[in-house]
This record gives sequence, C-alpha cells and structure tokens, in this order.
Amino acid sequence: MCGIVGYVGPRDCSDVLVSALEKLEYRGYDSAGIAVFEDNEIKTVKTKGKLENLKEKISTEGKPDGHVGIGHTRWATHGEPSDVNSHPHSGARVTIVHNGIIENYLELKEFLVSQGRTFLSDTDTEVVAQLLDYKYNGDPLETIDSVLAEVKGSFALGIMFKDFPDRIFAVRRESPLIVGVGDGESFIASDVPAILQYTRDYYLLEHDEIATLAADSVTFVDEHLQPIEKELKTADWDMEAAEKGGYAHYMIKEIHEQPTAIKTTIIPRIRDGLPCLEECGITLDKLKDFKNITIVACGTAMHAGMVGKYVIEDLARVPVNVDIASEYRYRNPIINKGDLVIIISQSGETADSREAMRLAKSRGAQTLAIVNAKGSSIAREADMLIYTLAGPEIAVASTKAYITQLSVMYLFAFELALAKETISVAECKRLVAALLKMPDAVEYVIDNCEEKCKYIATKLIAADSLLYIGRELDYALSMEGSLKLKEVSYIHSESYAAGELKHGTISLIDKDMPVIAVATQTDIIPKTISNIVEVKSRGAKVILVCTDTCARALDEGVADYVIEVPHCEELLMPISAVVPLQILAYYTAVNKGNDPDKPRNLAKSVTVE
Ligand code: M6R
Repeated sequence: MCGIVGYVGPRDCSDVLVSALEKLEYRGYDSAGIAVFEDNEIKTVKTKGKLENLKEKISTEGKPDGHVGIGHTRWATHGEPSDVNSHPHSGARVTIVHNGIIENYLELKEFLVSQGRTFLSDTDTEVVAQLLDYKYNGDPLETIDSVLAEVKGSFALGIMFKDFPDRIFAVRRESPLIVGVGDGESFIASDVPAILQYTRDYYLLEHDEIATLAADSVTFVDEHLQPIEKELKTADWDMEAAEKGGYAHYMIKEIHEQPTAIKTTIIPRIRDGLPCLEECGITLDKLKDFKNITIVACGTAMHAGMVGKYVIEDLARVPVNVDIASEYRYRNPIINKGDLVIIISQSGETADSREAMRLAKSRGAQTLAIVNAKGSSIAREADMLIYTLAGPEIAVASTKAYITQLSVMYLFAFELALAKETISVAECKRLVAALLKMPDAVEYVIDNCEEKCKYIATKLIAADSLLYIGRELDYALSMEGSLKLKEVSYIHSESYAAGELKHGTISLIDKDMPVIAVATQTDIIPKTISNIVEVKSRGAKVILVCTDTCARALDEGVADYVIEVPHCEELLMPISAVVPLQILAYYTAVNKGNDPDKPRNLAKSVTVE
C-alpha cells in the first residue's frame, strides 16, 4: 500500500524523506518519489521501481536541497507503475502525495478538463492536485476544505503549496496518517516506524482534520476549520523492535519472536488462572447472551478465524460462521441485532474488514476487534477490542500476528465457554495452563525443526504446485500453510480438507505434486493417514507435520519426510504446528531467490478494496 512521509525542520529534507520511506517499504510499493522546496521552488524527483532507483536518480539529477518536503512510495491502483504515474503529483501551485483511492476521480477529471486543465498521468491523485490548484484562493486551509467537500473515497494526503515554502499540510479520510513532532521539526507518515528514528511523539490525525506543519509548530483544524487540540501520543515500540536484529529477513525474525509475542499477548489477560478480558470490554455477563458469532477477516487473519470457529464451537457450543470480509460486506449477510461479529486484523486498516465491521454495527451487531496495530481504524471503531500484542510486524507475510490472533481466539473461546457454562472453572483453568505452555512449545519447534524444514525446502523449489491436506483443525491450519507458501515462494498451492480429496482433486496427484499433510488430532489421525496412503500410492512425495506421538506410531515409509512437533493439548496444536509450515514457506522463498519480506504484488496493509 502507498506510504506517505513529510518533513519540516533543520535536517537535510531529501535524506530524511528517503530514510523515512525505507521504513515504510514493508507496505509494498512499485515506485517512489520526493518533492522538496529548494529556493522557494518545488523540486520533484520520482521514478518507477525501488527506493534504490530513486536514490540513483537523485544522485544523477541532483539532490533537492532544502528543509521542507514530502515523499511517497506508490502501490499502483490507477495507472501502471511508471515514472509519470509516480507521486508526487502537481498542479501549478500545489504538489501532493496520496494514499488511498479517489472514487469520483473520473467525474472530477471531466470537470477539470472542461475547465481547460490537462493531465500528465493516469492517476486519481493528479486529479486532486489539479483540483486543489483550481480551487486555490491563497488560503491553504480553505482550499483543502473545499476540496474535501468534493472528493469521495479514502485518502491520506501530504500537500505543499508553492506560496508557503516553510510548511506542509496533511489531511486524511479513512487512510491512516500520523503527525510526528520532534525538537524544532515535524513529520507526517503513514505509520509510526517511519519517524521512530527521529521522534516517538505523534498525533493521530482523524477523519477530515487538517494539520499544518511548520518546523516549530503543528496545528490542527476540524472539518469546519475550527482549531482543535489533540492528544500527543508516545510510541512504545523501540527502533530495535522495528529493525531486523541480525536476521536475514523480518519474516524469519518474526517467526523467532513468536514465543515472546504469545506470552506478551496472553499473560496480561490471565488472572487467577482464568481468562480475564474485562479491560477489553468483555465480561462473562455480556458473553452469556451471544447466540451467534460471525468472524470476518481477510487472508491470514481469516485463517485464524477458521481455527477460532472450531475451538469456539467445540468448547462453547455457539455456532460460528467465518466469512471473507470482501464477500460479507457486499452480500447482504444475515445480521441479527445482538449478534457478535468478530473482526480480526493485523493492521486494523484493511478496507474490506473495516467496512464489514461498519456494516455489522449499522445492523445492530456488537463488534469485537482483534487487532495488532494500536489506534488503527478498526481498533477505534469496534465496541470491544482485544489487542494482539505482537509488536510491529514488518514482513508482508503474517506470522507472529497470526499466532497471537490464535492465542486471543483461545482465550476468548475459554471465556465464552465459561460464560455459557459448557466447561467448568476447573476445566477452564486446565486449558489456560495448557495455553501458558505454548510459548515453550513454539520455542521447541523453532529450535528443533528449523534445520529440517530448511532441508525439506530445498526439495520444494522445483514444484509447480503443492497440496496441503488436513482434517478439522488441521485443515484450518493447512489453509494458512498454503497461503504462506504461495505468497512468498510464488509456488501454486491449495489446501484441501483431506476427506474431500477423492471427490475430484486427487486426479491432480502424480509424482510432481508434493503433498504437505498436517495430522495433530489423535481421533482423526487414522483417517488422515489413509488419505496420505492414497496420495502416496499415486506417486506424490509426502511431507507430514504431526505430533511426536503420531510419528512413533507411523508405519515405515508412510511419508517421505516427517516433521514432528511435541504433543500438547490437542485443541491448541495449531499454535505450535503452524511454525514448521511458516519456516518451510520462508526457506522455500529464500531458496528460490525471492525476498520473503516483500513478495511481488503484495502490500502489508490493504487499505483499498
Ligand atoms: O492487516 P490484516 O490482518 O487485516 O490483513 C489481512 C490480510 O491482508 C493479510 O493477512 C494477508 O493475507 C497477509 N499477507 C498474509 O500473510
């Protein structure tokens, strides 16, 4: 997703912008650019490709020399990735960077063309730049405000007016934007890591608020142009947490951080051996009344919801429907007043998840958000909120956020089951104690499986396609394993409920189609094993992820490779069994020469539909 930065202060602005953009690379992008005031003129350098290309262009064209400017990494939506479509975009007196989508840009463009305006790019952003220029009356705030009244969609904008060379302006609707303040300098950014190297203090810009940034002041007005005071926040992340800390990639670093991430997430939510979610607005009394639950999310977060469904239905006997947010929001779903809708999201800014939540709220559902990014839109708008305390997740492929989403789903299911009296207090305490052991189990898997997974990954790189199979919880887990592999290795894979294979998909199996089977649930292991035998007899190479107890009972030669994870409380097995799947995906990507942190075509935070 696009990244925005901006700077006003004594430092070399071009350097600050480029280094801040580097911290936003995780969002995914295909072009980059900066605009800086140099001798009261706006000098722009932009190019298709990575920040390296931008740096090269800056060194050949000359670095814009100044102290006030804006920068951008673009993830193409309107118009292909190209130099001309890269941001910043300008009108005669205005230059802007933009994240998001202007829904009515064609209509606005037609109007501007009828007024004699011409356009250089295919972007919706240039339409906003031209509209600002068209409406400019010498007062930046009035001009921005009148443009806000005309544009529809989601956006965050960083704006420079030629007549105001000592300041920048910022506004947002839906898309995230923060305003950072340092000593005699100020910043804008799409996310906190961009400014952490300069300051920890920042404001969260709200919808349609406009910020004016000078070196020594930051001021805000609301949509009626009335001055407002905002609460200054302090980031509690340290830079080290946002850096790679000696690992080759963020993805593997974040896989290794999972034991800590689980502990950090669950320990504050356990009191006297029982789940305690009161601080998140969740009480036993409240939970008692929920009769239907829908979990809405996208991608990995949706897969965490799939595990949640099995666990909640098993323990609390409440029916759970898991829905893909982009389907749910457009299909007139059945939402009864008082239903519980759970939204799971790492970023808290995923447009489809956010809109699904709004739809559910508007129809009278109670909403519970399980979110990692503090202060994000979904976190702010939900009725109840449980933060996953995974810390910043930088790699595009979600790992530690997923494992903390699972951890929260378990705590929630335990609490719900207590409320519904489908488990006893003693049973709940037993489950909580088992959950508390999972960080060690994950640590053990990392320590003991990484080398083996690394080796097996060398066998996967030649495959064009793979199948992941499992039953029940193992099926939910297979979905996540398959997505992880696809997104970073670019090898096609599908996950199938193992029992469904013989209804068609088994025809794909031959010696060139490896199968990754997951078998952690004792009562159905024999069934999964018989599916493994079926694919093996058709030539497939089989990699089996199973418990150590299952591995001991296996007949010789059932699988080509066996990855053993320690046998824990079976309901909790997804937490430890996902780890080898993540590591397999990571090393397969690395072996193929891919950058697992920034897979092609993907963005960390999908803030457009
Ligand atoms: O920020 P969110 O959790 O809402 O993001 C949802 C998906 O876009 C995300 O999980 C995506 O599938 C990841 N790249 C998977 O690794």
